[in-house]
Amino acid sequence: MKIVNSKHFFHLCFLSFLFFTCKASQNQSSSSSIISRFQEYLQINTAHPNPRYYEAADFILSQAESLSLESQTIEFVENKPLVLLKWPGKDPKLPAVLLSSHTDVVPVESHKWTHPPFAAHIDSDGNIYARGSQDMKSVGMQYLEAIRKLKDSGFEPTRTIYLSYVPDEEIGGRDGAEKLVESDVFQKMNVAFVLDEGMPSADDKYRAYYADRSPMWLVIKATGAPGHGARLYDNTAMENLLKSIESIRRFRASEFDMLKAGLKTTGEVISVNLVFLKSGTQTPAGFVMNLQPSEAEAGIDIRVPPTVDQDAFERRIAEEWAPASRNMTYEFKEKFSTLDIFGKPAVTIADSSNPWWVLLEEAVLNAGGKLEKPDIFRGATDASFFRQRGFPAVGFSPIANTPGLAHDHNEFLNQQEYLKGIEIYAAIIKAFASYAEQTESKASKYEL
Ligand SMILES: *[C@@H]1O[C@H](CO)[C@@H](O)[C@H](O)[C@H]1NC(C)=O
Ligand SMILES: *[C@@H]1O[C@H](CO)[C@@H](O)[C@H](O)[C@H]1NC(C)=O
Ligand SMILES: [Zn+2]
Repeated sequence: MKIVNSKHFFHLCFLSFLFFTCKASQNQSSSSSIISRFQEYLQINTAHPNPRYYEAADFILSQAESLSLESQTIEFVENKPLVLLKWPGKDPKLPAVLLSSHTDVVPVESHKWTHPPFAAHIDSDGNIYARGSQDMKSVGMQYLEAIRKLKDSGFEPTRTIYLSYVPDEEIGGRDGAEKLVESDVFQKMNVAFVLDEGMPSADDKYRAYYADRSPMWLVIKATGAPGHGARLYDNTAMENLLKSIESIRRFRASEFDMLKAGLKTTGEVISVNLVFLKSGTQTPAGFVMNLQPSEAEAGIDIRVPPTVDQDAFERRIAEEWAPASRNMTYEFKEKFSTLDIFGKPAVTIADSSNPWWVLLEEAVLNAGGKLEKPDIFRGATDASFFRQRGFPAVGFSPIANTPGLAHDHNEFLNQQEYLKGIEIYAAIIKAFASYAEQTESKASKYEL
């Protein structure tokens, strides 16, 4: 780990002789300035595989400087800077709140976009087109704009607010959020609650997530006797694998039926999707047609909600989907536990027994937003790393009335929706920063 720089800035405008200059310069709080800053962040190409992390870090640091926030750049992994900002509270004994965001975005197929994905073009309807406009440069900048608003209004936090701008969420987060949560730096931050990204909603209600589904990326492999393509015989690798696939498909259909019938949400079902099939005997001329191969394998992306008993589920895999009796083996390419380090489901309580949830819900409503019943996120976000270690974390992005286009072509966010999101965050951050109860810094209090 390398601390690249650490600064404590002073608010220039406090100096009276500069006051006039500050006032006379362009109004930093006007809507057009707010939108320009968002565009500037979107224009930094932080797409994998070569994200411009230093440009993004420099940009965030310049924003922090203009807001007189304390800042620190940390490289837990070389060339993957993580920016940590601090808005110190008046009572340093109170555990802090962390506003988490990632700076990276997924790659684009530029030619399939209507507007260039890193131009942040605004069309006549006020839609801002850019990779990251939903996932999640919007959120990262909205945190800062909300703080600018609160500072403009003279608000001072009682409780410390931290903001993290981490790399690598889109490629698993191991070198980003996970390194942060495992660090001494994080220990010292004394964090009580984490806010991270959620998902846009097409209707007028925001979504909030109290858990993530855990990935179990499974590869099953069958072996069998090779033989002539014209011969009918038992126990071929293909037949062995296909029996498993039939069983997997029946399971998939039963889960999908519950989703279609509205009995469960996307986050509550187990999703099972075949992502590759691999077999055959290949020569430079192509596949050999008259030979039954001796090996066949399949890759399956499985996501399980935290209610699933993963041991029991793995037994099902061993017995039905990859039985040794059918000459099959299996391995997990990735497997996240649904339990935290204390052996409890990695879930944040999202009801009246968790004061952070109550504050969040009230703040959203008070700022004129609507909130859907909290749900389980369909994929894994950085919030998982915090919940894994027992820290309560909620995933929330104030994006309503917007088609979900994260990772899709033509990702966009409307200016008005973006500005409204800033008001929502201002209300949330104000509520969190004013909350003066001596909360515990771990989730232990809110155990299931
Ligand atoms: C800057 O713009 C904001 C929002 O439009 C407004 O409330 C504020 O009064 C303006 N400040 C100055 C110094 O013009
Ligand atoms: C498993 O492999 C063994 C050894 O190759 C073979 O004798 C047996 O028939 C196979 N069984 C199945 C179900 O494929
Ligand atoms: Zn994201």
